[in-house]
Amino acid sequence: NKDDRISRISSSIRVIPDFPKPGIMFQDITTLLLDPKAFKDTIDLFVERYKDKNINVVAGVEARGFIFGPPIALAIGAKFVPMRKPKKLPGIAYTLLVHSCNYYNLFSYLTYITSFSVFVICAFVPMTYYYTVSERGCWEVISEEYSLEYGTDKIEMHVGAVQPGERAVVVDDLIATGGTLTAAINLLERVGVEVVECACVIELPELKGRDRLGEKQLFVLVSST
Ligand code: PRP
Repeated sequence: NKDDRISRISSSIRVIPDFPKPGIMFQDITTLLLDPKAFKDTIDLFVERYKDKNINVVAGVEARGFIFGPPIALAIGAKFVPMRKPKKLPGIAYTLLVHSCNYYNLFSYLTYITSFSVFVICAFVPMTYYYTVSERGCWEVISEEYSLEYGTDKIEMHVGAVQPGERAVVVDDLIATGGTLTAAINLLERVGVEVVECACVIELPELKGRDRLGEKQLFVLVSST
């Protein structure tokens, strides 16, 4: 039954105190992966939740969202979209230069237009056409910065990987402060995708990441103190 599966998953996760910094109780899911039954139960519980929800996109956050996301995507017949750490995805040069520019933000947009207009006219119009049209429109990269439990980081996504109106679930191994999932939700919503829910194996409730997600639903298997 469901409770047995949850307790097997919970006991398969190794907790390592003071890693990578003093005070952090690191939740090590590599031991869950070593237990095929616990790993299968994890995927099955997510699949049972999402199989009949008309989900087109499973978005996984680097790195451990890449472990749990793809088997869920395959099982429910959705595509998998990797949300990567900076400078890993190939993209048009100008989008990297203005990676923090939100195109729905008028001020950022005007700043961008002013700064790069000459550059764009001279060099990037033909390049943009080449990459967006001849390479299946999958080369534009957008990014979002976020704060972490320890430090700051950024994630990036290919714009052409998703279409406006598609329905997505964002998958990661763990929610701590909620910064990573918030950034992932923002990226998807900036390009018109409906984020139905976020799904994590582990939640650290003390860090109140759930609150940071606002009204966005969060589904977790295990809560850890
Ligand atoms: C961990 C974890 C989540 C994120 C959660 O990843 O896998 O992605 O932190 O933290 P938050 O809710 O406070 O944003 P990490 O940044 O350590 O990157 P990694 O998976 O590449 O090791």
